Amino acid sequence: MASFYAAIGFILPFLLAIALPQSTGSPAVAPSTTGSLSIEDACKQTAKLYDLCMATLSPDRSSLTADAVGLTRAAILAVQKNASETATYLTNIDEDDNFNKTAQLQQCLEDCGERYEAAVEQLADATIALDMGAYDESQVLVSAGQAEVKLCQKGCQDSPEHQSILMARNTEVDQLCNITLAIAKLIPR
Ligand SMILES: *[C@@H]1O[C@H](CO)[C@@H](O)[C@H](O)[C@H]1NC(C)=O
Ligand SMILES: *[C@@H]1O[C@H](CO)[C@@H](O)[C@H](O)[C@H]1NC(C)=O
Ligand SMILES: *[C@@H]1O[C@H](CO)[C@@H](O)[C@H](O)[C@H]1NC(C)=O
Repeated sequence: MASFYAAIGFILPFLLAIALPQSTGSPAVAPSTTGSLSIEDACKQTAKLYDLCMATLSPDRSSLTADAVGLTRAAILAVQKNASETATYLTNIDEDDNFNKTAQLQQCLEDCGERYEAAVEQLADATIALDMGAYDESQVLVSAGQAEVKLCQKGCQDSPEHQSILMARNTEVDQLCNITLAIAKLIPR
């Protein structure tokens, strides 16, 4: 919790001062925006990622009648959940002594674990920013989380085992961040 608030305090000090106390309620209480937006129309904005977008947002029934803010919120939560699963997975294999790791792979897994944890915090902060109506800040935070995962990918490129362990997961988070950012652009300003 301490580092969670520290992260917000670091990135959003002014927002923390004005609006954090009202940001903890769960459904989106963002300032109202115009009209509803169908999942299909929103996902069309994601071009080649349409199928993944539909698969990611459709099962979330709360997003069925959402507006652009609600769909962006559902997308952020989906990528946060995905990144969080990988953070847990990395901690587990890091601590698994039956998994024979080279020193290089060990280092790569530890670095990526830290990057994924940072990404999860940034995505949590992105939802808080969105709920406060700070749409630009929210997008910056999604991009920051996406950048962490790109750095994990880059830092481990020379580790041959990395390919099988992390590449698909890194790509998926990258795609989900792209989907989130494309939908966030639909929020009327
Ligand atoms: C998220 O991550 C998992 C790996 O934990 C992956 O299998 C899954 O397909 C990913 N995608 C979505 C949209 O949840
Ligand atoms: C782990 O890998 C090292 C180096 O490749 C090897 O010498 C060792 O026998 C392996 N240990 C196990 C338990 O497989
Ligand atoms: C995400 O978007 C960036 C910028 O448009 C693009 O370069 C990258 O290839 C995209 N990633 C995926 C996995 O689609």
